[in-house]
Amino acid sequence: MALPCRSAATLKKYLVLLAQDSCEFRHPEIKSLLSLYGGHFSNTQDAQSKSPFCFLQLPSEEMARKLMKRTVCAKSVFELWAHGKSMEELKQSLERYPLESMVSYLQPNSTYKISIHTFNKTLSQKEKLNKIDVLEFVPFRGKVNLQNAEHIFYLLEDYGPEPNNPRKEPLQIFFGRWIADGQRDLINSYSVKKRHFIGNTSMDAGLAFIMANHGRVKPNDLVFDPFVGTGGLLVPCAHFGAYVCGTEIDYNTVHGLGKASRMNQKWRGPDENIRANLRQYGLEKYYVDVLLSDASKSIWRKRPLFDAIITDPPYGIRESTRKTGTQKEIMKTELFPESHIPVQLNYHLSDIFSDLLNFAAEFLNTGGRLVYWLPVYRPEYTEEVIPQHPCLKLISNCEQTLSSHTSRRMITMEKVKEFEGEDQFAHVKDSQSMQYKGHNSFREKYFSGLTKRMAREGKAKNEEASTGNYIRQENRQDI
Ligand SMILES: C[S@@+](CC[C@H](N)C(=O)[O-])C[C@H]1O[C@@H](n2cnc3c(N)ncnc32)[C@H](O)[C@@H]1O
Repeated sequence: MALPCRSAATLKKYLVLLAQDSCEFRHPEIKSLLSLYGGHFSNTQDAQSKSPFCFLQLPSEEMARKLMKRTVCAKSVFELWAHGKSMEELKQSLERYPLESMVSYLQPNSTYKISIHTFNKTLSQKEKLNKIDVLEFVPFRGKVNLQNAEHIFYLLEDYGPEPNNPRKEPLQIFFGRWIADGQRDLINSYSVKKRHFIGNTSMDAGLAFIMANHGRVKPNDLVFDPFVGTGGLLVPCAHFGAYVCGTEIDYNTVHGLGKASRMNQKWRGPDENIRANLRQYGLEKYYVDVLLSDASKSIWRKRPLFDAIITDPPYGIRESTRKTGTQKEIMKTELFPESHIPVQLNYHLSDIFSDLLNFAAEFLNTGGRLVYWLPVYRPEYTEEVIPQHPCLKLISNCEQTLSSHTSRRMITMEKVKEFEGEDQFAHVKDSQSMQYKGHNSFREKYFSGLTKRMAREGKAKNEEASTGNYIRQENRQDI
């Protein structure tokens, strides 16, 4: 085929093949990572879109490779050579692709192979070979090598959003050169099921990596988790080369003591702690420390200090939300007889979130990110319930549904303004607002919905067993 010669544009078009889980988290992840590497996310698709395909305009292949070294939401990236609604349109589109951008991958002394990827339809081997034959209009000159090809080309076909009712013909067809795969393997290799030290609320590995990516964690950063638990969020940050530290109010968790969370194990064994988790993955050198401390009482002198704060605060579902009490605070509440001074007080959810934002505003470096989970009662959710702070800009807000009436939202914020004297009162104002106070009743709403549903479905005992059989059922806590 004789191809017209056209000069290549400065920005090249890339096609990203996205994974089909955690759909809401995918575009913000890619956007965050591109901003880390100086690129822009120009995708016009709706962020809520379930389509596994998204387009990027990038200045270099190197940027595409950097992106794929980090993403757990994307499977692969391709240099897009052509796309259309039919093979004929694909051919016409390829004719418009600049020859000089193709020629070095089509040399007679090179090897290549063509693979087919279909979304929502399975093709037989024969059908695949037929499709490869149709691609004869691509001016391949090299030799086919199925085992070890220098250049891998892909024909990708989208059969629409209905897996059980796929279209006869594809909705859209893409052709491009494979560049790199993403980091989906990390989800398995860092799985909590195989982790040395786990607890009832250890963060799922995939979501933990997504949080680190939304937080733009990078090598040599200092990352902090104020509610560190078993350190499930420190692990991906250390994997990306950041130094990690945290605080935790529970003595047993910090010291790896007490009852084990794992099935078939009664007590935690020796050396079950966060440092050992990092050691398990060869990341011990990134461990700074974990302190037995109350996140509501700041212990840090230097400010700003952290490049990112990545955390999963307690929601009070199967663990209490607690903070240490001072004698003054306790006297104020007048709930206790004078003779009784409790060590810990209830820590209201609205206070947890306003303290967290205020802390992030004060202790994050400018440009640093706060990523955290906010539990919400879905029937009452509006964007107004998302806590705000004058120093922090909301970057993304992605929902993970937990039940018909509850979900949690991964909130990403960026410090955009220096913390000044008056900003320290922002949280007082906010935590008094009615919208934020609504967070305090999450626990009651969670259980009232649960009780009604259990009564309806008549399966009270098994309600939460489905989420993970490696954790003792009575201990299991996703939120
Ligand atoms: C949802 S869990 C965090 C789980 C953690 N991301 C992991 O992967 O294991 C919340 C943690 O916050 C701790 N916590 C509760 N109140 C606290 C406080 N005031 N200060 C510090 N930690 C607190 C709890 O003991 C619990 O371990």
